[in-house]
Parts: sequence; C-alpha cells; structure tokens
Amino acid sequence: MKELNTFVYQIYPKSFNDTTGNGIGDLVGVIEKLPYIRSLGFDYIWVTPFYKSPQVDNGYDVSDYYQIDPLFGTMADFEMLIKVAAQNELKVMIDIVFNHTSDQHEWFQKALAGDEYYQQYYIFNDKPTNWKSKFGTDAWTYVEKLDKYYLHLFDKSQPDLNWESENVRLELQKIINFWMDKGVKGFRFDVVNLVSKKYPLVDSVGDGREQYTDGPRIHEFLQELRMKTFGDKVDFLTVGEMSSTSIESCLQYANAQKTEFDSVFHFHHLKVDYENGDKWTRDYFDFELLKSLLKDWQLKMDENNVIDTLFWSNHDQPRISSRFIKAPTSELQMKKNKMLAMSMYLLKGISYIYQGEEIGMENFEFDNYDQIVDVESRNFYNLNPLLASEEKLTIISQKSRDNGRTPMQWTNDIYGGFSTTQPWINVNPNYQLVNVQEQLTDMDSTLSFYKKIIKLKKTDLVLQQGNVKFIDHKQLLIFTRQLNDVKYLIICNYYNQEVDYAVEAVKQVIINNETEINGNKLKLSPFASILIEI
Ligand code: GLC
Repeated sequence: MKELNTFVYQIYPKSFNDTTGNGIGDLVGVIEKLPYIRSLGFDYIWVTPFYKSPQVDNGYDVSDYYQIDPLFGTMADFEMLIKVAAQNELKVMIDIVFNHTSDQHEWFQKALAGDEYYQQYYIFNDKPTNWKSKFGTDAWTYVEKLDKYYLHLFDKSQPDLNWESENVRLELQKIINFWMDKGVKGFRFDVVNLVSKKYPLVDSVGDGREQYTDGPRIHEFLQELRMKTFGDKVDFLTVGEMSSTSIESCLQYANAQKTEFDSVFHFHHLKVDYENGDKWTRDYFDFELLKSLLKDWQLKMDENNVIDTLFWSNHDQPRISSRFIKAPTSELQMKKNKMLAMSMYLLKGISYIYQGEEIGMENFEFDNYDQIVDVESRNFYNLNPLLASEEKLTIISQKSRDNGRTPMQWTNDIYGGFSTTQPWINVNPNYQLVNVQEQLTDMDSTLSFYKKIIKLKKTDLVLQQGNVKFIDHKQLLIFTRQLNDVKYLIICNYYNQEVDYAVEAVKQVIINNETEINGNKLKLSPFASILIEI
C-alpha cells in the first residue's frame, strides 16, 4: 500500500514565505521553497485556502471558489505552482471549504437581497435554535430585512451551506472538477462531517453538535460527491477533516473500498491537554488519555483496513513542541521534539507535517490583546469578562490558533527571513535560535532528525506495514511494529525524568536519542526515545 509511506507537508501560505514584501506570504513564496520541501523527502504539499476571501477566518471564508485572492497572487502563479511542484516530484493537495461560504460570496449576497433561489443555498429559519458556534458565539444571526435567522457553525461571516439542496451539491461538484482540471492531485475537506444537519432543527441540551456532527445524510452526500468528481482516480489523495467525530463514523468515511475519502483527520489525541474537555484551560496533560487514544484509533483503524493519518499539528493547533510536559532548556526541547516525532510518525498511516514543526517552532508568548489576530481567540478573550486579562493571555499563549500561524522561521535575519517588513502576525522572537538555515547544516538538529525519520519510514517496510501493538507504561509511550518475523520496539519518554526499562533482547539499535543500553537494560534519559529491533 503506497499510502503508508506518504508524507504530506502542510503549508499555510499567509505565513510561509513573502516574496512581495507586503508582510503576507504568497504562492510565489511557496514555489520558491518547493526544492526545500522535496529535499526533506515529502511527496505532497497541502496548501490551505488561497481563494478569494475577506480573510475574516484567514481564507476559510471563501467568497469565490474559482479565483485566487490577490493577496496570494494570480491563477498563473497557481498554475506555475502545480508545474514546479511536479518538476520537484511533489503533488499538490488543496483545501476545500464546503460547510460554509463567506457572507461576501455572491450566493449569499443574492440570498440577502431577497433572491429565493439563492436563499435555498443556505439555512434560513424563522426561529433560531440554542446552538453555539464553534467560535463561542451564537450559531444564528438575524437578518432584519428578511426577518429570518441564518445558521453559521463558525463565525457569523461564514453562513452554512444547505447540502439538502441538490443545486448546492451540483455547484460544489463543479468546483472540485474545476480544480482537478488544473492538475491538483488531492483534496483536504474542511470540517466536512458537519454538512448534514438533522431535521427538523431543534434545540440542544448541549452546544448543538449532536444535531449536525456525522449527520443523517453524511455518507450519502460524500459518496455522491466522490462519484461525481475524483471517483476511483488513482494517484490521488483525499482527506476529510472530521470535527468531534467517532471511530465508528471514521471507519465508514475512510472505508477500505474508498467510497468516500482515502483518509480522515480526527483530533481526540490533540485534546489531551484540555482540562475537563475545555480547550481554554492551561497547564494540563493527561498522558493516560493520550496513550489510550493513540492505541484505540491505531488498532481499530488497522483491524478494519482503514488508513489512519498521523499528525501533531496544523494551522488550528498550538505548536506541538510547546505542548504536554515542558522542556526547560533548548537541549531538552530538541530531545523532546525528536521524541514526539518518533511517537507519531513511526505509527502506521499517512503522515502530515505542518510547516515549522520540522524545526521545532514554538508557541508565542502573548502579553497583550492587540497581538491576537485569530477570531476564535479574540472571542474567548472578549466573552470571558470575569477572567483576569493576564490569565486569559497565558491560556491564549498555550492554546490559541495564532501559535501555529506565526511566520515560518527561515533564517536569523529580521522577521526570520519570512518577509522584509513587519508581517501580518508577529514573528516568534526565538527565530534567531530556531530557524531552517541553522538547522540544515546541524546533523543533530530537529530538522535533520525529521529528515532521517522520513527517509527511514519511506524505505522500511516494517514501519510502513507492520502491525502495531502498545505496551502500557506510566511514563513511557511504548509500541511495537511487526512484519513477519521482524519486530521493532519504539520507546518514548514523555517526562523530564530518567527511567529504566528492560526489554527481551536488543538485536539492533536503529535510532537512539540518549538512552543508555546495558545488555537488555535501558536507561532512558529525560525525553529520550529509541527504536530497536528485538
Ligand atoms: C477548519 C479549519 C479552520 C477553520 C474552520 C472553519 O477547522 O481548519 O481553520 O476556522 O474549519 O472553516
């Protein structure tokens, strides 16, 4: 199965590489860095939205699916991107945002102007339900002129599309086919498991999610979409982003017959630092939960021949380097980065690595409100007047999506070599220590380690196809990968404390990040990790 050695590099163009000097990254900037991405061993790039957009949610509010936003360049730039990517043996995956449009989209504007045909493209109701949007506000907004409310599961500028309407579904298929004709080789579908709402729309005892998550017609909609667009195309990769989903639903979304998507993103393992399930909390880490989630998903997906996705970060997540147990020195931080890379990418599945993760980019320390750009984080700040500002800023420094959006740190030049001018969002001041240029020539760097892991996974069949088993331990994440009679053991120390561990035997040491080996006895130093054949 070729997919199991696939590595995808995620690019958030706005923060990747600015070639025009306006403080905003662009498509030409992406083209410029393709040789770098290829040199790390990636097969795909996934580029997040660059469509025409008012940028309230950084492009996830699309106002025209057929145009490139001038902020990022032109259609000619995009065509060039596809071409140069192919020259670099890279395929291009793009983001498809179909749960909602921007309120500036022509369809919504016509709906607001009273056009009934376009009103059925959205979800208008005389009465709102009590649902909350994913960004913390009410999920319905009143339109005085129509004396109706419209539904938005995200910002009020992102009205939800009505997938019950066949006309809407036809429009969406057309968009997919348009981009396929341009030569894209994959799609990532944004929050796509939210598109089928339960009717009638009723109040919820919670925030409403059970009324639209993995909804009643979802599989039918996705099967139809696939049939009318990418179908059985080989050499093509699709991944659906699933919000608050279940394993059972994902087994169907990414079923082995590939009638819906090739794979899915699920996020439970990235909520293990949410105290009582609440994202906006701090200094919390449930290691037991992390281990049990990794185990459950890996095993269930594998048993059902469903391909799992492996990822620690994306543009909606704080930086993985800064999560879980804190590494107090830059040396330990580097060890922790390597340990986390081993924990994730030596599991079974398609790997997604987000820009900057490969150099261990870290969270930003927010010390005032004006530094916050993200709409979700601003809402958290503004909707919690009883929490002290300092406390809110500390939480935001740990949890905000902005942490993942600070500009890519290329060099130790001003603005990290991302731009020649003050970027749209602040650069992390640690760019002088943490940047691509420094790490490229340092064989011990996080970057060199990512390169090594990618190369190993791409050439080693045990790491691609071997079955996965977990061994429980309080302080260590331990799993084996086995193919025929070759068996690997991977041990990762999540804590800043030394720990002893005895193994059956050590046949061969493949990777060792600071573990002392004495016969069959191992002494793992803080944040150490090791891969051995046993
Ligand atoms: C997805 C995107 C996120 C966006 C949201 C609404 O979760 O990854 O950035 O805000 O959908 O489109």
